[in-house]
Amino acid sequence: EPNPLPSPSPLLGKRSIQLVEVKARGRFGAVWKAKFKSEEVAVKVFPVQDKQSWLQEQEIFKLPNMEHANILHFIGVEKHNDNLKTEFWLITAYHEIGSLCDFLKANTLSWTDLCKVVETMARGLMHLHEEIPGRLGMPTKPAVAHRDFKSKNVLLKSNMTACIADFGLALVFESGKSCGDTHGQVGTRRYMGPEVLEGAINFTPDAFLRIDMYACGLVLWELVSRCTEQDGPVPEYRLPFEEEVGQHPTLEDMQEAVVQRKVRPTIPESWRNNPALSALCETMEECWDHDAEARLSASCVMERVLHQSRYRPS
Ligand code: ADE
Repeated sequence: EPNPLPSPSPLLGKRSIQLVEVKARGRFGAVWKAKFKSEEVAVKVFPVQDKQSWLQEQEIFKLPNMEHANILHFIGVEKHNDNLKTEFWLITAYHEIGSLCDFLKANTLSWTDLCKVVETMARGLMHLHEEIPGRLGMPTKPAVAHRDFKSKNVLLKSNMTACIADFGLALVFESGKSCGDTHGQVGTRRYMGPEVLEGAINFTPDAFLRIDMYACGLVLWELVSRCTEQDGPVPEYRLPFEEEVGQHPTLEDMQEAVVQRKVRPTIPESWRNNPALSALCETMEECWDHDAEARLSASCVMERVLHQSRYRPS
């Protein structure tokens, strides 16, 4: 269709996506709020030295059957060459609320919203983890482990449902192929399971999915800590283990706490005394079990919270 407006400048006119403002900074580059025609989109800008991460993340988004309500919606990629500078863009849906971590810093959660977030976050993780056989000649969706699951990598949509983002470290399990050549100790130290901190993981698909579930238990703790259903005032947002290891723990700090002393985030009595919250406390404890084999799967977390959400809290 003809564009009735003249281009503002010969250079800008060709650009169909305009970066508006930086929304978040991550391991690689920055996430921008951007405009595509009249639509808001998010653009993750990778500097030229992080091309490999850009390739890796788009590979995950492009897997068959990845599209899901609780997985960040992928739009496309672009390579930009201008003024002798190369940038790699990854374009996705934009969610104004941003990450669950940022939301919890500034807001508390009702019981209803807490259940909605937990259910949808678990659904997203379940979809990611699941292998879905292709039917009628369609390709199979392989099981995928996230490997950097944390509240910063869960986004909230405007209806308070969650979607999972940042697949820069994700690992794909093709049936019958081994994943033995990968590096085990990746992700964010604070969220690393005991076996990751110890450098003692089995390189099987199941082992990687259980590592995600440990991190999911910590995110459940973050969510409950900001829920208005607990007795008494809601405490300020704290990262998991912030009380125990502070803001910038070393690998040794985390090993000492999580592996040697088997410390986990404190669950106050005021949560256990509430019948609705106490069920979620059990769920988080079963996610962060020292014994990886004993941890709940994402589908178990989802089913539990579906039942628990019927509680009418006091
Ligand atoms: N932060 C990281 N990714 C984002 C997105 N797609 N929308 C909003 N905030 C984000």
